[in-house]
Amino acid sequence: MMAFQDLRQFLARLEDIPGELVHIHRPVAPQYEAAAVLGFHREGGPTVILENVRGYPGWRVVGNVLGTRRRVALALGLAEEEVNTGYFRRKSTGLPPVTVNAAPVKEVVITREIDLTALLPVLTYHEGDAGPYLTAGVCLAYDKASGRYHLGIHRLQVKGPDRLGILLANPPLATHFAAAEARGAPLELAIAVGVDPALLLAAVSRAAGGPDKLAIAGALRGEPVPLVRAETLELMVPATAEIVIEARTIPGVREREGPFGESTGYYFAFESPVLEVTAVTHRTQPLYQAIVPAGPEGENILSLCSASDLQHYLGELVEGFCGFAFVPGTYCFHAVLCLKKKNKAAARRAALLALALDPRLKQVVVVDDDVDFTSSADVAWAVATRCQPDRDVVVLRDLPAYVIDPSAVQGMTAKVIIDATKPPAIAERFVRIKPPPAARALAERIWREEAGGRGLRCASS
Ligand SMILES: Cc1cc2nc3c(=O)[nH]c(=O)nc-3n(C[C@H](O)[C@H](O)[C@H](O)COP(=O)(O)O)c2cc1C
Repeated sequence: MMAFQDLRQFLARLEDIPGELVHIHRPVAPQYEAAAVLGFHREGGPTVILENVRGYPGWRVVGNVLGTRRRVALALGLAEEEVNTGYFRRKSTGLPPVTVNAAPVKEVVITREIDLTALLPVLTYHEGDAGPYLTAGVCLAYDKASGRYHLGIHRLQVKGPDRLGILLANPPLATHFAAAEARGAPLELAIAVGVDPALLLAAVSRAAGGPDKLAIAGALRGEPVPLVRAETLELMVPATAEIVIEARTIPGVREREGPFGESTGYYFAFESPVLEVTAVTHRTQPLYQAIVPAGPEGENILSLCSASDLQHYLGELVEGFCGFAFVPGTYCFHAVLCLKKKNKAAARRAALLALALDPRLKQVVVVDDDVDFTSSADVAWAVATRCQPDRDVVVLRDLPAYVIDPSAVQGMTAKVIIDATKPPAIAERFVRIKPPPAARALAERIWREEAGGRGLRCASS
């Protein structure tokens, strides 16, 4: 594949494809208005560049970059149907970063009198948010002991001219931060905003044990990530990012961070670590990237990273595994697993495996291979007609909850397996009705040839 050198090159590619990128020229405010425009389409909308954000002349704001599966595939140079497998294959190899001297991200360097709000068009999203939040910041820390870079996307609240609050709930950065704090040391953190799409995807990949996330980014793009030395920290930063913020945590300090409207659609506030900003560098004519919480983009990014792992491991470990899909809109909490199974126990074992592999999963529905597991209606039909709740629903109690699930009780949750597969002993009751293949083929021909294709999509298969 040909790597996109930076976010700009990817946007230039989108520009060439009708309907993938739109420019909005009307002025919008960074408080609420910009986010409302970027987040307007709940699914399938284009990437949006806001050319005129009030108060920030010279800046452009871009959103919904990876808002569709099609654009994720484009970013990786893969066909849509091979995104999960291609992503997993590349991620397992790893391609370490390289150091460069000349870096676009150093075109403007600010190390004194830093004022984040004056410098960057950080957006405020929802009516109950505590203030402006960076939502597409790829946070990087270097672990001297292991020689690995730790990456993650973490929400960052602008709390003052050079002060940020950061939600560090997930590994690896949360673990790395806790280790630094236990030594009484600040954690040096670079925040790269507006990175090439492969690096954004790699930031939330599952990297335990294998190549680190910078090496995963290199493998995903097919070229090493170019890095350049930070101005004020002992680490390297992505050379082609639009913006890099350099910062250190203050050991032992926690402050209220939030409320902030999260990906699950609710507001959450935490007592979170605080960062002191030591430098900001950015490109000229900069682009500020935003991910609208609870929009399709965050879910898309997460679902690629989780689904590719699940598809791979379930494929290896589960006999008769036919496929796996997250239920859109559930932020990867709900999934459907499709099996050609011998008995009911096999369905439950497969669901338990999925729950164990992915800590975010809360509900797994198992269906037979005659059900379209990617269709919510078909899956609901299988649950309605094949599942007896007293027999086929398994509730697992007292498991760790995901941090942004408002229904969790003291950090714990129950999880559920819904076995919507046919009981083999009475399989004859569950033969799906369908017309004979020849009649079906004739009907398709008639609709195609005599009705101009109208109605083909509505036909039941
Ligand atoms: C859009 C987006 C926002 C995220 N925000 C946070 C955050 O604020 N805090 C956090 O700890 N993890 C956040 N994450 C998850 C982390 O980036 C995490 O490192 C990554 O998903 C890997 O963790 P996992 O194994 O739980 O998936 C976010 C992920 C995405 C896609």
